[in-house]
Amino acid sequence: MKTVEGRAALIHALAHIELNAIDLALDVVWRFPDMPGEFYRQWLNVAKEEAHHFVLLRNHLVMLGHDYGDFPAHGALWEMAEKTKHDLLARLALVPRTLEARGLDASPPIKAKLVGAGDRRAGEILDIILRDEIGHVAVGNFWYRYLCEQRGLDPVAAYADLAGRYGAPRLRGPFNLEARRAAGFEEAELRALQGI
Ligand SMILES: [Fe+2]
Ligand SMILES: [Fe+2]
Repeated sequence: MKTVEGRAALIHALAHIELNAIDLALDVVWRFPDMPGEFYRQWLNVAKEEAHHFVLLRNHLVMLGHDYGDFPAHGALWEMAEKTKHDLLARLALVPRTLEARGLDASPPIKAKLVGAGDRRAGEILDIILRDEIGHVAVGNFWYRYLCEQRGLDPVAAYADLAGRYGAPRLRGPFNLEARRAAGFEEAELRALQGI
């Protein structure tokens, strides 16, 4: 965090996540048919907000003398999209409710690091993203529960099963419980997450 280069690499990693998030939201829209109209409207709005996040981060990266594509990027998000392409329930469990929700936990420490290094603009951008991401995880939670109800599944047990089958990354604390509650996780789920 002490060098502009180091901060730019971090902003680049975040921009890459947002770019993937645009594709992930749109992939849900076209891949999975027969959902209510509101489902498609909500995911299109998620895609729009992800595009806004990407632009904010990319513009900041340019301010730091870099651009998107200057650093290597990982494929973890897209790999999970591939793995879950045959089942919307698995997609919602593993992508918004696991990977995107992990972003809620990661946001405060990343913001602290960047602001601590004097990058206040990055802190402002992370605030906007966190606010919107709570909404995205809430959309994931809503439709995950909708499908669980349709299929007669218990949401907590079904999540444990899917996380095991699809190799969800092990989530480590500290968890942003406030953001997770705001995003619609229930207390039983938060207890399972914390292993209590
Ligand atoms: Fe985002
Ligand atoms: Fe998102």
